[in-house]
Amino acid sequence: MSIRRRKSTIACMILAAGKGTRMNSAKNKVLHTLLGVPMVAYAVERARGLGAAPIVAVLGHQIQEVAKTLDERFGAGCVTVVEQKAQKGTGHAVRLGLAPLAKFNGMVVILCGDVPLLRKETLAALVAQARKRHGLAMLTSVVGNPTGYGRIVRDDVGKIVGVVEHKDATQVQRRIVEVNAGIYAAPAKFLLKATAKLSARNAQGEYYLTDIVAQAAASIGVDSVDVSAEEMSGVNDREQLVAAERILGDRIVREHMKHATFRAPAEVVVEASVTIEPDAEIGRNVVLRGSTHIGAFARIDDGTILTDTVVGRNAHVLPYCVATDSTIGENNKIGPFAHLRPGTVLGPEVHVGNFVEMKKTRLGRGSKANHLSYLGDAIVGEKVNVGAGTITCNYNGYEKRQTIIEDGAFIGSDTQLVAPVRVGKRAVVAAGATITEDVRDGALAITRAPCKQVDGYADRVAERYAELKKAKR
Ligand code: UD1
Ligand code: CA
Repeated sequence: MSIRRRKSTIACMILAAGKGTRMNSAKNKVLHTLLGVPMVAYAVERARGLGAAPIVAVLGHQIQEVAKTLDERFGAGCVTVVEQKAQKGTGHAVRLGLAPLAKFNGMVVILCGDVPLLRKETLAALVAQARKRHGLAMLTSVVGNPTGYGRIVRDDVGKIVGVVEHKDATQVQRRIVEVNAGIYAAPAKFLLKATAKLSARNAQGEYYLTDIVAQAAASIGVDSVDVSAEEMSGVNDREQLVAAERILGDRIVREHMKHATFRAPAEVVVEASVTIEPDAEIGRNVVLRGSTHIGAFARIDDGTILTDTVVGRNAHVLPYCVATDSTIGENNKIGPFAHLRPGTVLGPEVHVGNFVEMKKTRLGRGSKANHLSYLGDAIVGEKVNVGAGTITCNYNGYEKRQTIIEDGAFIGSDTQLVAPVRVGKRAVVAAGATITEDVRDGALAITRAPCKQVDGYADRVAERYAELKKAKR
């Protein structure tokens, strides 16, 4: 049986061949990240949100690196890459980008690789408008300072008749405050015809995509859809990069604030991929990254940084903890100043206190490691007490080795567990032990040197020094 896939009626083209000179960077502008996501990926996400197929990216500068990033993020082949060797203008770029769309008959949405604030609702409105009239739809914005942008030229009755670029505009035209956002939707057939007619006879000697607007005005018709100046703003330098990142971050936090409390919403960083359940509470300067999930009623205190970490329901992460690729269980109490490295998995009701580092370690229900410890490559059962200063010696200079501590064991303070080693159920390790062999269930292990006491020692020493002092005088 063959499955016939319905072809998408929307294709998308992302223009990103430019270098981004004003970033002053060894890295292409669109590879710089906002909230952990490369700039170009925002455009691809928008395209995917529309169900666009194919998605074509027109790339030039550092094409390999950009293409590799797209493949890694979205899977090989998700984005069709077209090379524009010399940046001869947006019209030239679109012309090249239409090559893989030779047989495509639907609507093409043209996006820029450097406009990460564009919202999906705005894009949906643009597509709806283009579909309604089978014409060209474009995003335009009324801005305070139109310098540098293409101006929207309208006739006496307000119909768009064309776009004039800033450098080509007359003094009168430069007073127009409605500008072109550089984002369009139009039938593929029209784009193919219109881009073939472009010329580079203008102030910049470039093939302007904007010249298709006058062509559409004279044929299929043009409509504009309003967009705010903020949303259409492109990122050209590092200042604009972090300003855009801030706006994206605010949008995300505002969404979470509908059901979770943020004590200082302007001072946290929450990446888009993070999920937060109702009634969680987030403190000041908290950073939540990647696939982090915060359970209901969990509390994340000031300065904590969580990356790809799951926090269970009602857990309390005290200030200044760092956790990466870890699981914090329900009703846990973690920190302050705990460091959970990749592979840490904590069961319910676990307590991990200050200056405790863990790596590839599991702690069972109700176990505690409250002070100054390193647990690496360890499997710890339920209700185990790990005393202050306990260290798993998990590395012999060549390989990592495992420590197993079974249910109910008690590890006294300042113990070294030299792996591979096992401490049996309900075994007791006396404080200050160096454990180099397995401890039997229920046994006491003690490796302490016997204590010797010398009575009257302090007085004897004091007397001796007093006599020496007298003799010197
Ligand atoms: C363009 C518009 C302008 C609009 C502005 C909005 C034209 C001629 N002008 O101007 O009306 O107000 O965007 O930001 O289109 N690109 C390529 N290949 C090229 C040239 C550009 O891929 O040969 C890409 C760039 O990487 C960028 C996008 O197209 O992502 C826009 O190019 P840019 O140079 O920023 O256009 P503007 O001159 O700002
Ligand atoms: Ca631009």
